Amino acid sequence: MYRFNFFHNGTMRNLLVNIDHVATLRNARGETVPDPVEAAMVAEKAGAAGIVFHLREDRRHIRDDDVYRLRKVTRGLFDFEMAATDEMIEICTGIKADLVTLVPESREELTTEGGLDMRKVRDDYREKVFPPFKQAGIAISLFVDPSEEDIAISAELEAEAVELHTGSYANATTDPVRKNELKRLRDAAIQAHELGLRVNAGHGLNFENIQPFLDHVPHLADISIGHALIADALFNGLENTVRRMVSIIKG
Ligand code: PXP
Repeated sequence: MYRFNFFHNGTMRNLLVNIDHVATLRNARGETVPDPVEAAMVAEKAGAAGIVFHLREDRRHIRDDDVYRLRKVTRGLFDFEMAATDEMIEICTGIKADLVTLVPESREELTTEGGLDMRKVRDDYREKVFPPFKQAGIAISLFVDPSEEDIAISAELEAEAVELHTGSYANATTDPVRKNELKRLRDAAIQAHELGLRVNAGHGLNFENIQPFLDHVPHLADISIGHALIADALFNGLENTVRRMVSIIKG
């Protein structure tokens, strides 16, 4: 039923580990450790179904050399998160990622702040951005807010997946807001699934908020988590941390 059948295990829920912040720590001292590539190997050994990284224009965490080294060791899904610039498209198609996750990017932000404005990028994506990925056989996921219009446009463009931005849910400070965000995510997941899109999700998920999210939102496939895992790993070890999150996600 999906347009692309490269996905490793159909529609089961999976954890993809984002290793950007291992590189953040390494770069803070200009050292070679901790090595994000080693982190990727540990994460996969602990049951992660794949690895995500965001190669940013300013290379503030992951660097080009990391991407090439990661490609060699990653056995599961290799998810290349990026802004749709000519430079990134060239690197991503050259290395033949399994999946590209397209995100908005601005220099000033601390982390990705919101989903893509699909109405704004629609024509550019259709004409310039999608063709090289389609030609290279790379599946495309669009990082979007749980908005009906953004999801409808993602399907119209024939993306393979959407990644639902869970940041507003994760940042909710009151129960009514949290409930409302869960409802928006649930509606968005149902809509995306009905339109034949794979439903991925991520941003701000952690050990406290993951279970209600899993309980309310159907059709989930790849769930990307970074910051909370790397933070927890400082106290519990990355292998233990990833194993625990995999077991929650697998239910
Ligand atoms: N998905 C996307 C598109 C992201 O930009 C990020 C942050 O890099 C994540 C998932 C992971 O978010 P977090 O680090 O908050 O778990």
